[in-house]
Amino acid sequence: MDFSLTEEHLMIRDAARDFAQTELLPGVIERDNAQTFPDELVRKMGELGFMGIMVDPKYGGSGMDAISYVLIMEELSKIDASASVMVSVNNSLVCYGLEAFGTEEQKQKYLTKLATGESIGAFCLSEPEAGSDATSQKTTAIDMGDHYIINGTKNWITNGGRSDVYLVIAQTDREKGHKGINAFIVEKGMPGFDIGPKEDKLGIRGSDTHTLQFNDVKVPKENRIGDDGFGFKFAMKTLSGGRIGIAAQALGIASGAYELALKYSKERKAFGTEICNHQAIAFKLADMYTEVEAARMLVMKAAWDKDQGNNYDMSSAMAKLYASKVAMEQTVEAVQIHGGNGFVKEYHVERLMRDAKITQIYEGTSEIQKIVISRGVIRG
Ligand code: CAA
Ligand code: FAD
Repeated sequence: MDFSLTEEHLMIRDAARDFAQTELLPGVIERDNAQTFPDELVRKMGELGFMGIMVDPKYGGSGMDAISYVLIMEELSKIDASASVMVSVNNSLVCYGLEAFGTEEQKQKYLTKLATGESIGAFCLSEPEAGSDATSQKTTAIDMGDHYIINGTKNWITNGGRSDVYLVIAQTDREKGHKGINAFIVEKGMPGFDIGPKEDKLGIRGSDTHTLQFNDVKVPKENRIGDDGFGFKFAMKTLSGGRIGIAAQALGIASGAYELALKYSKERKAFGTEICNHQAIAFKLADMYTEVEAARMLVMKAAWDKDQGNNYDMSSAMAKLYASKVAMEQTVEAVQIHGGNGFVKEYHVERLMRDAKITQIYEGTSEIQKIVISRGVIRG
């Protein structure tokens, strides 16, 4: 067993750290306030290869492994989780979904641009009445021979306003239950496809989240992903990898908060000494470091499983469940260590605390991760 990172992994991590410090940190508070994220930064992330990290270079990707993906996600998330969710959705839901299950024509047409950041992608599973209960899809896709007609509403869609390519899950044959669900590639601008207003959110405020409306949207048959009825399994298999990305995001938010709290505790004085010398604060730091390292092990294990070709349904669920809990708990502690300064935007930890919460909700809530894990445990 070897816990060390390779030279290449260290270089990738340093490149992501450098980008986060020099490009993401300036303006992160303003972007959070204004709920924006400039196209220019997306373009730069594309140039660095962050939009198609694991995609084969023959489709324009960086050809890196899942460990590299996790390292990049952690570094971006320490500074700006709005940037990292954009990266995560584009990489592990959209690019992965197309590369693993798309036709060669779909890969040539869509993946090559998504992997470089020239196009941005969104993954559209959730609906007003089908969140955790994802098989209860109300959006319909009626088979008309050479095309499908899609009708319905998707909500909470990350990159919803800025994407070019939308992977949309819809019900083709209700009688077949989850076996009657399909996944489709919908392009921005297709007639009948409308983007609703942006949500005003607690955290990841730079990331745009929208409701999408589909009114008789005509989608060619060649835009269906996989065989007829593969859509639900497509979503589940893709989400298993996505959960590694969100687990790494949670790890980054937690480790970022820990690093800020450690630094602050060595500078701030109370009762004649730096506050890290008070055991109550020192023990918080000990707990934070231990929890962050434990989360890191689970996140790395899930990425390693993916790289080894092992099944990672359970390891990704465990990594997300645990890392998101650590992110929530330890960002609260980081605010506490900062005292009053923790409560204002300038010190960054209040944003990390607000951003942490979403990691327990999206890509399957913590309760859903427990369903996945418990079923796996019982199945053996
Ligand atoms: N791989 C392959 N197949 C899978 C699978 C997996 N990981 N998980 C389930 N399946 C298959 C099952 O084997 C079953 O097929 P068969 O009948 O042929 O055996 C089928 O899918 C249905 O599975 P279940 O009976 O387990 O379905 P369920 O209704 O009990 O739901 C669930 C299972 C895990 C709760 C699922 O509904 C789920 O994951 N819900 C959460 C939805 C979610 O994560 N949404 C995220 C939206 S994207 C997002 O959030 C992005 C973002 O924020 C940035
Ligand atoms: P519900 O399913 O209504 O759950 C409500 C509560 O009940 C939760 O605590 C849940 O854990 C619990 N619960 C539900 N069922 C069970 C059960 N069987 N056992 C125990 N507890 C249960 N979706 C996309 O498709 N694409 C995206 O890009 C996307 N981005 C998002 C971005 C943001 C900012 C947000 C907030 C959401 C995003 N989502 C996206 C949606 C997200 O995946 C869902 O919000 C999530 O899956 C939960 O669904 P829900 O909100 O309908 O909650």
